Amino acid sequence: MAMMGDTLTKEAIFEWFSRYVSPPKARFFQHVGIDFVIGRREGPFLWDVDGQRRLIDCHCNGGVFNLGHRHPEIVQALRDSLSMLDIGNHHLVSEWRARLGERLAALTPGDLTYTVFGVSGGEAIDVAIKVARGYTGRTKIISAKGGYHGHTGLALAAGDEKYRKPFGPMPPGFVQVPFNDLEALAAVMDEDTAAVLLETVPATYGMVVPDPDYLPGVRELCDRHAALLIIDEVQAGLGRTGRLWGIEHFNVVPDILVIGKGLSGGVYPMTATVLRPPLMRVFEPDPFIHVSTFGGAEVGVPVALKVLDLTAQPDFLAHVQALAAFFREAFTRLQARYAGFLIRLRQLGMMMGIELAHPQAGPLFSRMAYEAGLLCVYAYNDPRVVQFLPPLIIDRALAEEIVERVDQALAGTAAMFS
Ligand SMILES: Cc1ncc(COP(=O)(O)O)c(C=O)c1O
Repeated sequence: MAMMGDTLTKEAIFEWFSRYVSPPKARFFQHVGIDFVIGRREGPFLWDVDGQRRLIDCHCNGGVFNLGHRHPEIVQALRDSLSMLDIGNHHLVSEWRARLGERLAALTPGDLTYTVFGVSGGEAIDVAIKVARGYTGRTKIISAKGGYHGHTGLALAAGDEKYRKPFGPMPPGFVQVPFNDLEALAAVMDEDTAAVLLETVPATYGMVVPDPDYLPGVRELCDRHAALLIIDEVQAGLGRTGRLWGIEHFNVVPDILVIGKGLSGGVYPMTATVLRPPLMRVFEPDPFIHVSTFGGAEVGVPVALKVLDLTAQPDFLAHVQALAAFFREAFTRLQARYAGFLIRLRQLGMMMGIELAHPQAGPLFSRMAYEAGLLCVYAYNDPRVVQFLPPLIIDRALAEEIVERVDQALAGTAAMFS
């Protein structure tokens, strides 16, 4: 048995992982030629465990690493927290959860007030759906085709068919419609609709930025049918779009806002399902009707507070907007060079997707990007598109370096299709 500190070759780690964790996953990465095992990690960079390769993280686990890896202030917050806190008891009243709840209420739009804490985004979506059903007494949950809300129970039922199919019957009442299509949504809304559940910018679907009137139109339809609007900002939240919340771009206040990934600071899992005041009614008869042992773990609260402090700063958001403008211009130039192959940069701030002409170009680009020193992952629900999510803390010089490397990856990918 290998012990911490032993030096293992990458091949040995692949073999070990394959023996005890997931043979198919190990095989997949060997097959696609991405034999990477994360070793050192710092800021925007990941190093292979053998130190031979450095990648710039342009995936960031969908926003977990918005502030880069091991941000010194975040790591310090966790160290300090560990000197006095632990998970706490999820049944009891907690000063720390109250602090984080207050901060979220202050920073989220409109009168979003009460937070139910969780550990994963899927769990946070499950809570949102439970609350919507409990509050309205209705069943139907409408979500978008190609959307992704997690691999757990109700979240899974709201997601794409390919993730559900192998697992037998799903809970009833889930309906999917094309994203960005108000008519399609209007056609399925009725007096049994509990909620419409949407990502502000569907990420796994390839960073589809909705038309400006889509989300306001959805809000109106929800109001007309007395249904709730659940907005999933597990990826779009926390500064990624250049505003603290992506939904702010559309002047819409949801009934439930779901926050995840980046709230962890990359070091301690924390998710939040933030509710408008009337929805608390669901918990009046029994405040323990939903509990989560690790949800809102006290030790993670100072980390989440630090994330919110850093990301809500106007200077930070201005920096994100400046980076977004830089990438917009850089991609306009790349588009001219790869005309007909690089279709467009889908973009809302630094929430970006590189749309390519060939239906299978995304996976190949991911491979070429790896060769060029970038970690990029294609959009599983639309493999023409590569998700492009550099950390939000990069400087201009690194942004330029990323563009050069994207250029190399595009050249390699385009050559395979010419
Ligand atoms: C938009 C969105 N919602 C929910 C989730 C689920 O989050 P988790 O993997 O933490 O359960 C994800 C994960 O990628 C996501 O992208």
